[in-house]
Amino acid sequence: MADLIAEIATLESQAYEAIRQAHDMEALARISQEYTGKKGALTAILKKLGTLSPEERSVVGKAANAFKEKLTTWLNSREKELEELRLSQLAETEFLDLSVTPPEFAAVASGLSSGHIHPIVQTQRRLEQIFTSMGFSIADGPQIEDDYHNFGALNFTDDHPARDMQDTFYTKNGYLLRTHTSSVQIRVLESTKPPLRIVAPGRVFRYEEVDASHEHTFYQMEGMVVDRKVSVANLLHLMQTLLSEVFGRTVTTRLRPGYFPFVEPGFELDMQCLVCNGSGCPVCKHSGWVEVLPCGLIHPNVLAAVGLDPREWQGAAFGLGLNRLVMMQHGIEDIRHFMAGKLDFLEQFPVIA
Ligand code: DAH
Repeated sequence: MADLIAEIATLESQAYEAIRQAHDMEALARISQEYTGKKGALTAILKKLGTLSPEERSVVGKAANAFKEKLTTWLNSREKELEELRLSQLAETEFLDLSVTPPEFAAVASGLSSGHIHPIVQTQRRLEQIFTSMGFSIADGPQIEDDYHNFGALNFTDDHPARDMQDTFYTKNGYLLRTHTSSVQIRVLESTKPPLRIVAPGRVFRYEEVDASHEHTFYQMEGMVVDRKVSVANLLHLMQTLLSEVFGRTVTTRLRPGYFPFVEPGFELDMQCLVCNGSGCPVCKHSGWVEVLPCGLIHPNVLAAVGLDPREWQGAAFGLGLNRLVMMQHGIEDIRHFMAGKLDFLEQFPVIA
């Protein structure tokens, strides 16, 4: 019996050493086989148990089992170690830096002009900077929406004309392409507890007759503030700050009442056309003014739809038309340029990052 115990001890130290030295999974499998396989060393010992007295059998059996357990632990931990090693080596050797021009292409690449950021995205990023500096977060939502988030929860009654097929692209399976980024208001309010401030930039879609001032696909930035006390004065201050930051000077604005089902009161904030300085041109439809910022205080029905008590919470919201804003910034006279993929248009806005 003592021989067997000694043998187990020797096997243990041999196995430990072998496992430590193993450098791949095959080696580990081989070791496992060498000890616990049909012809394995430990198996051989177990086979001898039958020749021992019951007391001896119990002692040797315990030692053998303890060894088996250690063996499994050592094999597993070495396997994990080897896998981690493999992954870290892979990260070293297979790391791909997509921003590096391979030397063999450098000569060719130097003769090419590099791409740059689309003017809408340039302005979007600038706005994101302005808003995050005022404590807003950036929110996102799906472009393919359901009726509830795009209309229902925003207090559009079932017979509201904006639900009409003429304005909205519907999918065959009952969804729609969001017609405005106001849908993100609902998504955010469903998932985040107020007080909150967010802006949600993104692409929106309308079933429109395309002309110089209408596109079927365009960009908006929805903004929303929800807190215990929010006033029209807060909203106007925000809008003024925003416009003067974007244009780098004070812009002349005017406020008109405007109807949107999800705000009460609702406003249209117009700015004096910067393309013609208010004297009238095709961009402002010869009125001298451009609607850029519809806004208002969030309707109590909208707050209630997302489970907020309108007696406790108030909100302000606005929907910035990004295309129009960019048109004002750069004196662009036709909205269709943005999506036309024309390099001679895009190359006039050569901001790279
Ligand atoms: N969602 C509106 C649209 O696309 C714009 C809008 C109006 C957004 C008023 C607002 C708002 O947040 O308060 O026509």
